[in-house]
Amino acid sequence: MKALVYNGPGKKAVEERPMPRVALSTDAVVKISKTTICGTDLHILKGDVPSCVPGRVLGHEGVGIITELGQGVTGFRIGDHVLISCISSCGKCDYCRRGMYSHCTTGGWILGNSIDGTQAEYVRIPHADTSLYKIQAGANEEALVMLSDILPTGFECGVLNGKVQPGSTVAIVGSGPIGLAALLTAQFYSPAEIVMIDLDDNRLAMARQFGATTTINSRDGNAAATVMKLTGGRGVDTVIEAVGIPATFELCGEIVAPGGTIANVGVHGTKVSLHLERLWDRNVTITTRLVDTVSTPMLLRTTQSGKIDPALLVTHRFKLAGILEAYDTFSAAADTKALKVIIEA
Ligand SMILES: NC(=O)c1ccc[n+]([C@@H]2O[C@H](COP(=O)([O-])OP(=O)(O)OC[C@H]3O[C@@H](n4cnc5c(N)ncnc54)[C@H](O)[C@@H]3O)[C@@H](O)[C@H]2O)c1
Ligand SMILES: [Zn+2]
Ligand SMILES: [Zn+2]
Repeated sequence: MKALVYNGPGKKAVEERPMPRVALSTDAVVKISKTTICGTDLHILKGDVPSCVPGRVLGHEGVGIITELGQGVTGFRIGDHVLISCISSCGKCDYCRRGMYSHCTTGGWILGNSIDGTQAEYVRIPHADTSLYKIQAGANEEALVMLSDILPTGFECGVLNGKVQPGSTVAIVGSGPIGLAALLTAQFYSPAEIVMIDLDDNRLAMARQFGATTTINSRDGNAAATVMKLTGGRGVDTVIEAVGIPATFELCGEIVAPGGTIANVGVHGTKVSLHLERLWDRNVTITTRLVDTVSTPMLLRTTQSGKIDPALLVTHRFKLAGILEAYDTFSAAADTKALKVIIEA
């Protein structure tokens, strides 16, 4: 089969690979119909993720059809149309039983990281019963690919951890796929204001289409002052950090209101300053989280009923044979205006 293989920092290639087979009785093999590329795949290609070694098939998002099942899988049949979660979970370990699938002792984020992933014609899925979700007949596959990772990430790490409330004020720093996923799902709770902050005017225009009440381009360095002016000097109740660099985390601390919450979503690769000398008396909460994908069943229902339309995030489409071009397009988002690219296997 064809697969996109990571060959060390800066190196990737489409290669011919053996078909994956069921290795444990709890595994399934899924024939991929659609997959996508995540910002985290770009982190891997920069060499930022040491657990992902050269030779690995990348990708942790996708939908497809089950072609092989281990004897221990009871919830699925061959031929079932399924959504693949970016997080594999056994459902039985201490962490899984607390809903922290991301820290599953025999799973977590392993796909396209410590085991071969979904940017291929076929993929082996461990703990299939608790890591796959059935897709309804006629569902929009492109919309559902957004539910493997970015929708649950924006919702769980941003909206739930950030305690978005009806009538509250929200700021989301970063209007990439994750920030926009937080924007879409924050609206479940009817906040009064959602301010989106980014450097890219195209992404801010998308944010206005997706329901942002105000957008701020922070290039001039005045974003904090603008938010404080907008909120009468109070700041916002929830700030969601969806970039992953020191400057944007520090901005969150400058605009959080007394009693508010800073929900960090971004993956940080360098040391970040926490200004406790400013924050100690402001009754704020700071949260961190690796996506657990516990909200996937709810997100499937809200997508299937049309309450949210994650397909709006799809900007480009490629075939698996053209995945290198898909990577180029996704990596040059400022020029190509790419958000999520769909790859059809
Ligand atoms: N916690 C988790 O489980 C989890 C899961 C998936 C992704 N992530 C992380 O979430 C973050 C966002 O992911 P994404 O795919 O949307 O990334 P992305 O790179 O596509 O988007 C980031 C956005 O931030 C903007 N930006 C960059 N520098 C900025 C600055 N100084 N001020 C304002 N905006 C700035 C960019 O223009 C871009 O639109 C990444 O760090 C990613 O690794 C976390
Ligand atoms: Zn991802
Ligand atoms: Zn587990």
